[in-house]
Amino acid sequence: MRKPVMAGNWKMYKTPAETRAFFEAFVPLVATARECDIVICPPFVDIPAAVAASETSRVAIGGQNIDYRKDGAFTGEISAPMLKAAGADWVIIGHSERRQFFGETDETVCKRTVAALEAGLKPIVCVGELLADRESGNTAKILEAQFSGGIAPLTKDQFQEIVVAYEPVWAIGTGKTATPEIAAEAHQVIRNAMKAKFGSDVRILYGGSVKPDNIKNLMAQQELEGVLVGGASLTPDSFAAIVNF
Ligand code: PGA
Repeated sequence: MRKPVMAGNWKMYKTPAETRAFFEAFVPLVATARECDIVICPPFVDIPAAVAASETSRVAIGGQNIDYRKDGAFTGEISAPMLKAAGADWVIIGHSERRQFFGETDETVCKRTVAALEAGLKPIVCVGELLADRESGNTAKILEAQFSGGIAPLTKDQFQEIVVAYEPVWAIGTGKTATPEIAAEAHQVIRNAMKAKFGSDVRILYGGSVKPDNIKNLMAQQELEGVLVGGASLTPDSFAAIVNF
């Protein structure tokens, strides 16, 4: 089995002071976790504090988004080289909240993924269906479309460097976790698309209401090679319980 990725997405929560307090408590709790990659993605302004506080630990830091251009007159944006220079090694791309509220499309997901790779950041590329897609039986079709627009245009070398997160939108922040079987089935759709296009696959994480009390059952599915955790990554105890499951 490949090394699972246990990643936390803090969304728009925490100040730099709260970030320092989190790491002070969290780092000792995961000191013996060696069999996984641990990644925390705080808001941009917290990245320097997170990088400093995690320096001597195995916890890596990521951003939650990047612009796909290197620099320029794009008020309010942050580029991949800037994020890398600030000490981050990972970045979440195409989270459903970016797609839903900030006009992210499969095309911009692909551009951001390429920009991340060129800057030496490891992208966690998110895909996932809406509740309406699932109810109308269109889950596989949507996942395949997101794959062909956002991931398939990568070169084989680029593809091999990414991680994909399957996050059903109806399970994000709702307390409704996909059952391990539902998650595994969706992962298989994505994995088949990967193999058909690239002849190989990369790690696929699950995200959506992952908690300390469901992590064991989820990770019992071989299809799941890690998790992307929102709400439960905000407190040191609960995220450590997930990492150490
Ligand atoms: P949640 O969020 O764990 O709070 O459901 C997951 C995510 O949005 O990545």
